[in-house]
Amino acid sequence: MSSATKTRVAVLVSGGGSNLQSLIEATDTPDFPAEIALVISNKAEAYGLVRAKNSLIKTIVLDHSLYTSRETFDKEIHAVLVENQIQLVCLAGYMRILSPAFVAKWPNRIINIHPSLLPSFPGLNVHQRAIDAGVKFSGCTVHLVGAGLDDGPIIIQAAVPVLANDTAKNLASRILESEHRIYPKALEWIASGRARLIKGQVVVNEEDEGRASASIWPL
Ligand code: GRF
Repeated sequence: MSSATKTRVAVLVSGGGSNLQSLIEATDTPDFPAEIALVISNKAEAYGLVRAKNSLIKTIVLDHSLYTSRETFDKEIHAVLVENQIQLVCLAGYMRILSPAFVAKWPNRIINIHPSLLPSFPGLNVHQRAIDAGVKFSGCTVHLVGAGLDDGPIIIQAAVPVLANDTAKNLASRILESEHRIYPKALEWIASGRARLIKGQVVVNEEDEGRASASIWPL
């Protein structure tokens, strides 16, 4: 697939960027329908920036602490995305809540990964909460970003067993392995138009090789 027909993606990170790495590896495949055109971090020390640079991807640091409000910070992110002709935004360990005004400007164009089986355990400290609740399965979810926290139509999930002696740390690292598997898949489905939004739910027909006319994607 030529670069001209690929969906231009920006990945927003705040930390280690292992999910970013899984997206970089997937998008490096010649036929992948999306390319990472930009990585933005709100933290200058985020290792995700190093991963992007190693793959010759453009990076921009926008330090949220230098802005007077969440809205003005998000306006700057929006401006940078537009300037770089970004079509789709992937949040990958981006530890900032997006303002409603920003989300409204990118309807069905922001994807997030969350380390639980949503709608269970939105928010922070997810793995300890899952262990404390005694659930036997947790996992991860890739979803479109809606108005609420860790809310919006689910694209894909993976279930991971919670073991009897699990600590939050080792549960997190097993779930992270599944995250790396499902995030590229979700991006592929959205960018190729294989995913459709029907009555507020994402429906994916894996058999559908063609570009679905009913899909709102590709963008
Ligand atoms: C992942 O568990 C992700 O689901 C969560 O934050 C973690 C980020 O990890 N939102 P990484 O920066 O991608 O390694």
